[in-house]
Amino acid sequence: MSKKEETHRGLWSSNMGFLLSAAGSAIGLGNLWKFPYLVGKYGGGAFIIVYLILVVVLGVSIVIAEITIGRHGGTDAYGSFAKVKKGWGIFGFIAILTCFFILSYYSVIAGWVLRYIVQFATTTSGDFGAFFKGFISSPIEPIIYAAVILVITSFIVARGIAGGIEKANKILMPLLFVFIIFVAVRVMTLDGAAEGLKFYFKPDFSKISGESILAALGQVFFSLSLGMGILITYGSYASKKTNIPKTSLTIVDLDTLIALLAGLAIIPAVFIFGQEPAAGPKLIFIVLPQIFATMPFGQFFGLMFFALVFFAALTSTISLMEVVVAYVVDQFKFKRSSAVILISLKLFFVAIFCSLSFGPIEKFTPFFGKNVFDFLDFLTSNIFLPIGGIAVCLLTGWVFGAKALEAELTNNGTVKFKLIKVWMFMMKFGGPVILLAILLNAIGILKF
Ligand code: PHE
Repeated sequence: MSKKEETHRGLWSSNMGFLLSAAGSAIGLGNLWKFPYLVGKYGGGAFIIVYLILVVVLGVSIVIAEITIGRHGGTDAYGSFAKVKKGWGIFGFIAILTCFFILSYYSVIAGWVLRYIVQFATTTSGDFGAFFKGFISSPIEPIIYAAVILVITSFIVARGIAGGIEKANKILMPLLFVFIIFVAVRVMTLDGAAEGLKFYFKPDFSKISGESILAALGQVFFSLSLGMGILITYGSYASKKTNIPKTSLTIVDLDTLIALLAGLAIIPAVFIFGQEPAAGPKLIFIVLPQIFATMPFGQFFGLMFFALVFFAALTSTISLMEVVVAYVVDQFKFKRSSAVILISLKLFFVAIFCSLSFGPIEKFTPFFGKNVFDFLDFLTSNIFLPIGGIAVCLLTGWVFGAKALEAELTNNGTVKFKLIKVWMFMMKFGGPVILLAILLNAIGILKF
């Protein structure tokens, strides 16, 4: 790294790099395992319709808001919040904390993915149910894999914005696109795939309820990596020429496209092999591997599938780490490389406990009856994320000031944004109300 890069914050070298990095953060395990599962559970096409409506109505608006706050601030999430209004930095800080905790468990799960790559590269079959349970509950091995993930992530983040994060995303994202299309085509050309596709798209509106809408909302949020300062931080490295509304829309489009493609690759396979579209981890670590193991050229496609899951996870861990690193670099003037080392060590410490939550300390539940992993997952997804989202909406809707906001968002009037009134309405009212409902539901005050 040159002296110059060390002392300057860095910028994306191109708008494409920014776009791919932001999309890389959004596209993650959530798209690949959670979205197809939710579609299967909540009425196929009916859920897809609800999800799409929420993405358009709420998702895009908050993406635009976060990038605008970040580019205006030109600094980390804490500093960018504080720049708009002193005292609001605390919300940026909560967002940074959210990233830290999410990364501590996300790196453990990404480590499992890495383990599966090794598995598919070396053997063809086996009882994945037993293998999975045995692996994740062992005391040492999964921790080593989590450490490998943190080391790879650190290495990339330490190289800075254009030379590290952008470069990695420019390689990993195209690979991910190609691989997912390959796997989806393979699955859709299996005998009986048509039935599976019908199941995927056929809307069953009777499954739409408060619960399913809430699930869709949570998914929009997690999938777009909202409410945790990621797009603020990434936006702070964006050029003043970047067209924010257009870039935001493309990020959202890519994220949604990959979620839909993941469904195409997963649902028909599960359907053909007579399996239930099971929940989260079980779906990709047990059900799918078993299916790959029995399908023609299954080892090859299995390997490809886990490679793409790995790329998706890595581009997300990079963004999570960058939020924390940017904070330490910008606020405490650390050298980027020192910040990365310091933060990684702390992350690793928490990750150890997350990993052990699947084995030795699974029953150790001092946090409101939850173990370390479940507690961190609950706290971040259900409490911190909605708070972060509400803060972003209120800051943009009520505090920023319409003139300054419009100037930043439209690059001083050179970029068109016809829907600015609708967007402002979402920031002022729509967003906060919806997010408050999620929060109250999560803590049990409101029941849907
Ligand atoms: N958006 C990612 C996904 O869909 C997850 C993620 C969450 C990434 C938080 C970064 C931060 O899996």
